[in-house]
Amino acid sequence: MVTPREKVALAHRQSYSVAPQFVIAAPGRVNLIGEHTDYNDGFVLPLAINYQAAVSASKRDDRTIRAFALDEQSQVEISLDVEPEFDHVASWSNYLRGIIAELQNQGFKLCGANLVISGNVPQGAGLSSSAALEIALIKSLVSLSEETIDGVNAALVGQAAENNFVGCSCGIMDQLISAKGERQHALLIDCRSLTLSPVPLPSDTVVLVVNSNVRRALVDGEYNLRRQQCEAVARHLKVAALRDVNLDQLLGVASEISDIEFKRARHVITENQRTLDTAQALVDGDLKQVGLYMAESHASMRDDFEITVPEIDTLVNIIKLVIGEQGGTRMTGGGFGGCVVALFPRQLVPAVIAKINLEYSKVSGTEATIFECEASAGAFT
Ligand code: GLA
Repeated sequence: MVTPREKVALAHRQSYSVAPQFVIAAPGRVNLIGEHTDYNDGFVLPLAINYQAAVSASKRDDRTIRAFALDEQSQVEISLDVEPEFDHVASWSNYLRGIIAELQNQGFKLCGANLVISGNVPQGAGLSSSAALEIALIKSLVSLSEETIDGVNAALVGQAAENNFVGCSCGIMDQLISAKGERQHALLIDCRSLTLSPVPLPSDTVVLVVNSNVRRALVDGEYNLRRQQCEAVARHLKVAALRDVNLDQLLGVASEISDIEFKRARHVITENQRTLDTAQALVDGDLKQVGLYMAESHASMRDDFEITVPEIDTLVNIIKLVIGEQGGTRMTGGGFGGCVVALFPRQLVPAVIAKINLEYSKVSGTEATIFECEASAGAFT
């Protein structure tokens, strides 16, 4: 199979008649646990996956960035001397526009570039195809301009581009794991200090990602609303973020906030603890315990944070029936469709796949897509 790197390198020669000076790939991610905790300064436990966005780059001697998105067959030209504006037609290019704006605001002296972009991270599935693209673009543009940036700062630039230009108030998880992921490990990330602790995945286990192929509209609106609700509770409690609150403190103000705010905050507070506990259970090789935390996480996302959909709940139930106490499964990512992640002994893979293929479409009317993922290195690792 042709890799995204190979694709962009070949297309670069064909489109621009020169070999690329840089070909950079950055991975998508799957989150084992710690959902909607990142923007609450909390803990997450993602791993970078073996699906990537790739960017090839060569210098131009003018002040133009020309970018060709191979998979969309769409090309844009952006001047480095004009403040970038939102593009309602080539919407993929807003990641590039936002990144150019952020890098220039931060004083990076960018040079003109010819770029080709491609990738095999499934889009709209909650596997961070956009964060992968951002990290690959940032590394390409900065390297080509003979500037330097480290992985953590690259992640912050990507997040700022999403927050300030694209219009999604996302946290730091996706960009950071795409930049700094490690082979065969998940990373426990403290989203306040940005400290990264590698957590080995138990041997002979597999990370299975199952795409429900359900995508609901208004995802960004729902996402931003959840963030506002969490921040409202933190403000009420006069703390910087929900990271600073325990369940007793929340119970103490239960009558002063709305029921919805209470449930949102309860999800975040309990999810932070589950994430820390899951990292420890993985270190101990205790898959049964990991399974319990993942089940609690899913229930909390379903009942308190209200970000799952029936098809996703169905997938979790189907997988759990096969793996029992030998592993765990839950929805992963921002929610409202997308994917389920499962961690369990490798020998159960055929039985899990067979059960999904047999049961899922009966309930959902659509087929699931299944990916066996390997924990991979980030673009800056
Ligand atoms: C999206 C965001 C992340 C994170 C997750 C939910 O992937 O980009 O920052 O908030 O949702 O955990």
